[in-house]
Amino acid sequence: MYNPELLTMHNALLDAQHKELYELAKQITHLNSSFVHSKELKPFLRQLLLFMNRHFSDEEEFMLQINYPNLSEHKKLHRKIILEIEEIIITEAKILNAMSKKIESVVMDLVFKHTIKEDSKIAKFYEENFLNKDKI
Ligand SMILES: [Fe+2]
Ligand SMILES: [Fe+2]
Repeated sequence: MYNPELLTMHNALLDAQHKELYELAKQITHLNSSFVHSKELKPFLRQLLLFMNRHFSDEEEFMLQINYPNLSEHKKLHRKIILEIEEIIITEAKILNAMSKKIESVVMDLVFKHTIKEDSKIAKFYEENFLNKDKI
């Protein structure tokens, strides 16, 4: 299971956002698996969308600052996640009830796996280029 405590981005704001994102995503998957009506789920998804938009733009700013070489590729992955969440939000409540699997996969796969798989590459790049230099 993903644990945001295990990954540091070497940036306090991003680390705090990853933790907040994790809590919110956990809350959504919990509500989702408790068969909470989709109408009640939507405000949480909207909150997630808003929060992710802010986090992604802060993370993109960080990548820019450290000259991360895969910035545009990473930005595309962010856009893809935003689009997936937007798609769920605009889906009609009736259909949304049948979409709990989709919600689960978007929140878990995209949010958590993105952080583990992709954000960790930014952290690694930072470590290799900004942390280990004095040691060599
Ligand atoms: Fe992130
Ligand atoms: Fe990211």
